[in-house]
Amino acid sequence: MGSPAGPSHIYMILLACLSFYLLGVHMLSANAGRDPQKSDINFPSMLPDEDFCASLRTLPRRAHVVSLTDFGGVGDGKTSNTHAFQDAINSLMAYTDQGGSQLYVPAGRWLTGSFNLTSHFTLYLDKDAVILGSLDTKDWPIIDSLPSYGRGRELPGGRHISLIHGSNLTDVVITGENGTVDGQGQMWWNMHTNGELDYTRGHLVELMHCQNVIISSLTFRNSPFWTIHPVYSSNVLVQNVTILSPIDSPNTDGIDPDSSTLVCIEDCYIQNGDDLIAIKSGWDEYGIAYAQPSAKIKIQGIVGGTRSSSGIALGSEMSGGISDVYVNNVVVHHAATGIRIKSAQGRGGYVKNVFVSDIMLYNVKTGIGFTALYGEHPDKKYNKNAEPLVDRVFITNISGQNVTVAGDFEGLADDPFQGIYLANITMNVTSRSKMWHCVNVGGYSSLVYPQPCPEFSEL
Ligand SMILES: *[C@@H]1O[C@H](CO)[C@@H](O)[C@H](O)[C@H]1NC(C)=O
Ligand SMILES: *[C@@H]1O[C@H](CO)[C@@H](O)[C@H](O)[C@H]1NC(C)=O
Ligand SMILES: *[C@@H]1O[C@H](CO)[C@@H](O)[C@H](O)[C@H]1NC(C)=O
Ligand SMILES: *[C@@H]1O[C@H](CO)[C@@H](O)[C@H](O)[C@H]1NC(C)=O
Ligand SMILES: *[C@@H]1O[C@H](CO)[C@@H](O)[C@H](O)[C@H]1NC(C)=O
Ligand SMILES: *[C@@H]1O[C@H](CO)[C@@H](O)[C@H](O)[C@H]1NC(C)=O
Ligand SMILES: *[C@@H]1O[C@H](CO)[C@@H](O)[C@H](O)[C@H]1NC(C)=O
Ligand SMILES: *[C@@H]1O[C@H](CO)[C@@H](O)[C@H](O)[C@H]1NC(C)=O
Repeated sequence: MGSPAGPSHIYMILLACLSFYLLGVHMLSANAGRDPQKSDINFPSMLPDEDFCASLRTLPRRAHVVSLTDFGGVGDGKTSNTHAFQDAINSLMAYTDQGGSQLYVPAGRWLTGSFNLTSHFTLYLDKDAVILGSLDTKDWPIIDSLPSYGRGRELPGGRHISLIHGSNLTDVVITGENGTVDGQGQMWWNMHTNGELDYTRGHLVELMHCQNVIISSLTFRNSPFWTIHPVYSSNVLVQNVTILSPIDSPNTDGIDPDSSTLVCIEDCYIQNGDDLIAIKSGWDEYGIAYAQPSAKIKIQGIVGGTRSSSGIALGSEMSGGISDVYVNNVVVHHAATGIRIKSAQGRGGYVKNVFVSDIMLYNVKTGIGFTALYGEHPDKKYNKNAEPLVDRVFITNISGQNVTVAGDFEGLADDPFQGIYLANITMNVTSRSKMWHCVNVGGYSSLVYPQPCPEFSEL
């Protein structure tokens, strides 16, 4: 049986309180600088003390509202609506400084190629509206690669644009009554698997250099590639969305905030073929040079499952740095890894000040998995001496059922993971031989079952 032969319930709670007290005292004394090894630990709260998305809590009202059918849209699932979408939005650009605008997508199946959004604008889907991604690759034209990646993520050169795209915008909303955006990704997954693509696949939704973005109350299905990709953006709220792709679809990440700040992802259900959520910030020498971190990110109220990937991931592209990440109240019902940090020699950058609490893991192979051996480089020009820093990661209140390995940490010999705190973690681990695997990692633990490796000194 994997159940810990632990003390009684009450005794455990007392012990837990004591250890949290000690953790607090430890942090305070660390602040006082008495212990140089721990002197930089000064984040005693597991939740952010401000709402990063306070300004996005109410949907903005728009003065001017039109329907897709006013621009010749045909919702028969066969007629292309690329021009209807783009004509409608182009005409609505006139209202950006006149109270903003809303494009209503009525019930129907609206086949379309990629289209671009505008500022002070809401795309609103009826409950029976389905936007269908075109099955003609030319309807997803090639755009420049991201400067922080230096090339397409999968193939050199540019990349297919996303189905719904926005660049250099402010105040953009994509919402509705649980209508659907369906990328019809099967064609792209097949072409990818068969090596038939010349460029990296497109996202379902990408917002670049955008501020004040709300994506809410919709279902996103079958993205060709990562589903929702805010990049070089700030003040982004993704809330109350459902993301669905087959569990064997390649690289259909759910939500990937990338070199973006002040991002909140809340109350979402995600079932897909790659990481549910992955925070990123550019790739090796290109990400280091672009130097745009992801910071102040809150993830809360997520439920989901994936087959071969992670629940919540940081990296592997993290060369611009990732910090001040708060993950709370997440249920992962199936995954290869529950909580994941991935990086590699050559990435540079950092992952620091990460606070993970109240997580339930079911049917997960590795509960907590950090690696600095992920590999994957944009080209051979990366700097092998650019080592990633991973420091100050706090993980508490975790429970796991049917977890194969509790924790797997693989840092670099001359650049170990440091300041990793594990507290109040109970996992029902099925592996008898290898419950924890620890290489080049240092940290502290309190009330962790099964007993972690000695690299985590007991508090
Ligand atoms: C752990 O899992 C095993 C089966 O995998 C089950 O029999 C046992 O009851 C579980 N223990 C706890 C404490 O949930
Ligand atoms: C949409 O925006 C992208 C990126 O700015 C641009 O390359 C593309 O030409 C735009 N498409 C249209 C139809 O305006
Ligand atoms: C978009 O914003 C970025 C960053 O500020 C800037 O470099 C780029 O030139 C802008 N693009 C356009 C089309 O305005
Ligand atoms: C979530 O979305 C549904 C429609 O999909 C809507 O009815 C509900 O009010 C939304 N809830 C919140 C809290 O936004
Ligand atoms: C929205 O639709 C999805 C897909 O059909 C469904 O799973 C989800 O429960 C719906 N959400 C709400 C709030 O009704
Ligand atoms: C751990 O869970 C308990 C009970 O839900 C809660 O009171 C406490 O605040 C949590 N601790 C952290 C650090 O999230
Ligand atoms: C335990 O998790 C594995 C995946 O890691 C899954 O294949 C298996 O069905 C789960 N067992 C139970 C009893 O749910
Ligand atoms: C420990 O975490 C569990 C959830 O995994 C929670 O129910 C419990 O209250 C926590 N204990 C403390 C002392 O925070």
